[in-house]
Amino acid sequence: VAFSEIERKYRYPEDRVVNIHKRVNPFLEDLLDAAKKAKVDIRVASGFRSFTEQSSLKSQYSVTYGAGSANAFSADQGYSEHQLGTTVDFTTIASLGALDGFNNTPAYTWLLANAYKYGFVLSYPENNAYYVFEPWHWRFVGKDLAEDLRKEKIGFYDMDQRDIDKSL
Ligand code: DAL
Repeated sequence: VAFSEIERKYRYPEDRVVNIHKRVNPFLEDLLDAAKKAKVDIRVASGFRSFTEQSSLKSQYSVTYGAGSANAFSADQGYSEHQLGTTVDFTTIASLGALDGFNNTPAYTWLLANAYKYGFVLSYPENNAYYVFEPWHWRFVGKDLAEDLRKEKIGFYDMDQRDIDKSL
């Protein structure tokens, strides 16, 4: 997979390098430019993670919070959408890069109304079967599928495996 570095102006903190799947990057940039035009503060905190990066993140979380708690919000290495390179965690400058509380930001409200136009969907909505509610974690699935999911009012993981396979 080829990756692009997300430009500094889209990142928080700007000094932390974040990569994303090369073919997803133009859609992400369109989304962030549209948000900026709407005067909505949105930045990217995290994007592609290698197996090793996910592994060390998960280990740190497990030490800090205990394995049980960490499993509720962090995937094991090999199982994270971040390893696909198509997934980002959004944050805001106003929150200094925090993820917790993202659902209370204008950024989240804007994403709920607009992210699908750029092909992004929320992977782990409230009361999902897999992880805690992750308002910051958005996955690129393409504009057509994002629009269909919105029309049907269902999440990506509410689809049948057969339908997921078809869209991939
Ligand atoms: N935070 C999500 C579940 C991940 O680690 O991929």
